[in-house]
Amino acid sequence: MTTASPPVKPSFEPAEFRPLSEEPEAPLSPLQEEIRALKQERNAVILAHNYQIEPIQRIADYLGDSLGLAYQAAEAKADVILFCGVHFMAETAKIVNPSKTVILPDENAGCSLSDSCPAEKLRAYKEAHPDLYVVAYINCSAAVKALSDVICTSGNAVRIVERIPEDREILFVPDQNLGQWVARQTGRRMRLWPGSCYAHVLFTVQTLEKLRLQYPDAPIVAHPECVESVRDIADAVCSTEKMVAFAKETDAARIIVVTESGMIHRLRREAPEKTFIAGPTQNCACNDCRYMKLNTLEKMRDALRDLHPRIEMDESIREAAYRPLKRMLDWSR
Ligand code: 13P
Ligand code: SF4
Repeated sequence: MTTASPPVKPSFEPAEFRPLSEEPEAPLSPLQEEIRALKQERNAVILAHNYQIEPIQRIADYLGDSLGLAYQAAEAKADVILFCGVHFMAETAKIVNPSKTVILPDENAGCSLSDSCPAEKLRAYKEAHPDLYVVAYINCSAAVKALSDVICTSGNAVRIVERIPEDREILFVPDQNLGQWVARQTGRRMRLWPGSCYAHVLFTVQTLEKLRLQYPDAPIVAHPECVESVRDIADAVCSTEKMVAFAKETDAARIIVVTESGMIHRLRREAPEKTFIAGPTQNCACNDCRYMKLNTLEKMRDALRDLHPRIEMDESIREAAYRPLKRMLDWSR
């Protein structure tokens, strides 16, 4: 006879977000109203990533994942694109729509993945292995994009890799976790650049197993930038935009979300009847990307007022980076 051991609880209370439908909507703040007025004056559009703070999400014209944002940027008609996300995302907007003034609230909003693949290192690797077909995750600099054959996002990576001729050996940069996941999904052998997202690798299977004991009815949805053991216990592995579809479609009333904490705000708006539990790390009940969280309402206001910080780049780099990005946009329509 076996005796059941008592459930092990995390050492902190999980961050549980009750249905949004139970909370009254607060009016916009004076600062949010000021940003809206400045936006009109500048003929600007506000594009924001799902990881932005809630007050920014609330006044965005479009909120989405890297793929949706790239399409929105390419199709933007406004004179100014205020991009609330990180630098490589704003840079992508400039690459696909160069006649626009592209500004981002904080020019220091970088990305650890992007930093893990300097263009000089990739160039040297390609020189040593000239036959490789380079697939670059969009989380990289314009200079790295310029050295790549095609770009992908977490939302279309499988579809993009499936389009690459079977006889070509693939080098996937810079995220080894997304690359490993795509290799499993497609059965393609790929060389993986040793980069990772500092925020997503903090999630561990141990903390998620403990959480599952507390919420046995809640499916786990995880971003592919998480490590393999975390992806393996997830019920769904997907981009932030696909998490929205998952939350709407599942019958479950509670969902455990294993990605950056800003995602919870978007999910609550899209599925207001559901409860979301933020995936914990070993030390914390949820997880913020320190770069995404550099953007604030004050910095948005100042950027619109001053049209600064502005994304600029060498036209030869832009043109070279546009080719693989255009291929991605065409392949994933
Ligand atoms: P998504 O394209 O899934 O939104 O991911 C972007 C990102 O930076 C994840 O860390
Ligand atoms: Fe980069 Fe990770 Fe932040 Fe996404 S969450 S922007 S991959 S550091």
